Amino acid sequence: AMKKRWKTAIITLSDKGYAGEREDKSGPLILEMIEEAGYEAAEVVLLPDEQQMIEEKLIELCDKKHMDLILTTGGTGFSPRDCTPEATLAVATRNAPGIAEAMRYASLQITPRAMLSRAASVIRNQTLIVNLPGSPKAVKENLECIIQSLPHGLEIMK
Ligand code: MTE
Repeated sequence: AMKKRWKTAIITLSDKGYAGEREDKSGPLILEMIEEAGYEAAEVVLLPDEQQMIEEKLIELCDKKHMDLILTTGGTGFSPRDCTPEATLAVATRNAPGIAEAMRYASLQITPRAMLSRAASVIRNQTLIVNLPGSPKAVKENLECIIQSLPHGLEIMK
């Protein structure tokens, strides 16, 4: 059987990126990595660190656009504006903490600052949502460690 190309949305959360004050390098990096791994990049979004806007976009991508997977980047740290995990948890129907745990476990071998990522991983109905940290380096290291294991989870969610 042909391998399913999982329908994936990428959301970058960055006040500076949204304001045009900083080039988003993390969103395009996720795009490149998932296409390489055989996923379909169906939607690419850039939003500010506004919890309400993030929740609304997540709900639209899950309920209206029926994404299999949503990958976010940014807004997982301790700065007062960081609210990606809160928005993610607010729209969850089930927790799936093992993915975030695996990312922190792998990342701690690289930098002790990995403990400062508050990234969440959850399910909303038929969609898996995974938060990645903001920097391209962190995106690469975190996504690398989970990307091969996600399809099995996505398959059994259906
Ligand atoms: N994980 C990996 N693998 N590599 C990194 O460089 N940076 C950490 C952490 N996770 C990092 C990482 C740092 S410094 C922070 S503050 C948190 O992710 C949160 O990042 P964010 O605020 O950009 O979302």
